Amino acid sequence: MEDRMLSSEESHEDAAIELSLRPERLKEYIGQTAVKDNLNVFIKAARLRNEPLDHVLLYGPPGLGKTTLAAIIAKEMDVGFRTTSGPAIERPGDLAAILTSLEAGDVLFIDEIHRLSRAIEEILYSAMEDFCLDIVIGKGDTARSVRLELPPFTLVGATTRAGSLSSPLRDRFGVMARLEYYQESDLKEIVKRTGDVFGVTVGDESAEEIARRSRGTPRIANRLLKRVRDFAQVEGMDHIPVQTAHKALELLQIDRLGLDHIDHKLLQGIIHIYKGGPVGLEAIAASIGEESETIEDVYEPYLLQVGLLQRTPRGRMVTPKAYEYFGLEDIQRT
Ligand SMILES: Nc1ncnc2c1ncn2[C@@H]1O[C@H](COP(=O)(O)OP(=O)(O)O)[C@@H](O)[C@H]1O
Ligand SMILES: [Mg+2]
Repeated sequence: MEDRMLSSEESHEDAAIELSLRPERLKEYIGQTAVKDNLNVFIKAARLRNEPLDHVLLYGPPGLGKTTLAAIIAKEMDVGFRTTSGPAIERPGDLAAILTSLEAGDVLFIDEIHRLSRAIEEILYSAMEDFCLDIVIGKGDTARSVRLELPPFTLVGATTRAGSLSSPLRDRFGVMARLEYYQESDLKEIVKRTGDVFGVTVGDESAEEIARRSRGTPRIANRLLKRVRDFAQVEGMDHIPVQTAHKALELLQIDRLGLDHIDHKLLQGIIHIYKGGPVGLEAIAASIGEESETIEDVYEPYLLQVGLLQRTPRGRMVTPKAYEYFGLEDIQRT
């Protein structure tokens, strides 16, 4: 896949800087007020009872702060934080090794939890519910099942697609929190905070300019700020003038809604090739050369959110707003 400036997926470059950018406490975590307020209560209550927090499922598009929040939960509970991911747990033994090494109260974070295999999920159920592990030792006639007690722990799962989780797994989470795209004002605050970490002053206007084009996503806001900072630095500035921010974003070909050329290709493809739709996901994927899963998880959610695209039972359709956005109202009428 082409390296896309606006992709909300994590890149190697992000991984390195994100560590230093992650807020560590709930009160530094900007936005997502509903989720934060709820978690705050659950965490306090669990601490008062001296019990581990209920299992938490965090879901929402990439780059909105799921991993960050998982780490914050551990910090606020004052317990250890272990992380793994759905695809990394290949065999039941992998999961058993992780679970048996936990300490009482620990947070185990499983990223991309929808990618666990069925067999692994089933082991996880009893671990989540009863804090025990049934494992089979030996093979054939001599095989026997033993039950291992586990320390009580909190599972925090993260996923971009809560719908792909089997319902028995979903049912075992006491807390389900859906992360939403961020308001521009929240993103502005995030950009300023990141500027502080980078040691560069970002004025209100520049922060707004970046926030507006970050498609509601902190990861993208941080990435854009990084690029804009490069431009400012080359110009010998220790702060980010709004003209520089503006020029940099133009050069990066990110439009006023934060859309890039792939979004344009996707929407205009539906308009020109499929007369506005409805068209199936597979057909869109083929026409722009991306995987349909990527479109569904990464590109489409924001286009739906801003009302340029619509999902109907017969497929995806662009909205009248999309024709307007591209100045193609004439085509719409024909
Ligand atoms: N609420 C927030 N406040 C401040 N920064 C945030 C917030 N949410 C996310 N970020 C920043 O965005 C980046 C991506 O967040 P991350 O937790 O990795 O997203 P996800 O796991 O949902 O893909 C992190 O480096 C973090 O610095
Ligand atoms: Mg993550």
